Amino acid sequence: MKRVQDEVAIITGAANGLGQAIAFRLAQDGANVILGDIDGSGLSTTASEIRKTGSQVITVVGDITEEAQAQELIDAALNHFGKIDILVNNVGGSRNSKIWEMEVEDWDYTVRLNLRGTFLCTKAAVRHMIKKKKGSIICLSSGAREGTPWTAYYQGGSAYSTCKAGVHGFMRDVAMELAEFNIRVNCVAPGPIETDREGENLRKLNDTVDLSPERMTPLGRLGQPFEVANAVLFLASDEASYVTGHTMAVAGGR
Ligand SMILES: NC(=O)c1ccc[n+]([C@@H]2O[C@H](COP(=O)([O-])OP(=O)(O)OC[C@H]3O[C@@H](n4cnc5c(N)ncnc54)[C@H](O)[C@@H]3O)[C@@H](O)[C@H]2O)c1
Repeated sequence: MKRVQDEVAIITGAANGLGQAIAFRLAQDGANVILGDIDGSGLSTTASEIRKTGSQVITVVGDITEEAQAQELIDAALNHFGKIDILVNNVGGSRNSKIWEMEVEDWDYTVRLNLRGTFLCTKAAVRHMIKKKKGSIICLSSGAREGTPWTAYYQGGSAYSTCKAGVHGFMRDVAMELAEFNIRVNCVAPGPIETDREGENLRKLNDTVDLSPERMTPLGRLGQPFEVANAVLFLASDEASYVTGHTMAVAGGR
């Protein structure tokens, strides 16, 4: 049986990487999806693949760190499908540098990208979910919420780690606030995942440095996007009906 049949799922940052894999996975299991991203051509590619599964898909090009554009994404789901069952706050990223060299602009960019969009999309979506007394929200944290050795040593990642710990804290509180409305809120925290954008950087570190992602990961390999998507699907579905306020690591044992 398909696990999210006819549910309506919003996925932010679905034009590439993990967001795209999550959109594919939820659609394969029966969800109709609303995909948000600033990358219009990537969104079209994701959408045309999903249409082959028979699921309905809508794309909304916009910057979800802007309040009006985050609201537009949520409104598109409600206008088209009349409901929102699942929200995946996937947008995130980093401008890495060592703390003694980090520009304030890079710190602010990273904080805004990882935290502001998650806050804005959650706030807009839960207004509807509260009325329905139903919903599942999944936020993308990271192994970096506890620091990442290779990033810290070779590039510097304090802004990113701060944000991903922040996503965990946001999720913990919002899960408690929303429990009375039967809305579950969880995080998935990936380790080093071989996405199109991040894979090359990770493979380069594996080849050249001692504190490599593979050596520092008990399973001894990089993760694949579908392995993250599987965890999101579980948390989104009724199989996780008694799971809320939880961060699930998909990090090869780190
Ligand atoms: N790839 C990894 O190894 C890894 C590990 C741990 C956590 N994560 C987290 O998983 C999530 C996805 O990571 P990814 O590697 O797939 O990233 P990615 O950079 O490949 O994809 C991010 C997507 O978000 C979109 N985007 C960026 N800014 C946006 C904005 N303001 N508004 C709307 N869309 C925007 C981009 O266009 C892109 O399609 C992020 O939160 C990231 O921090 C990734």
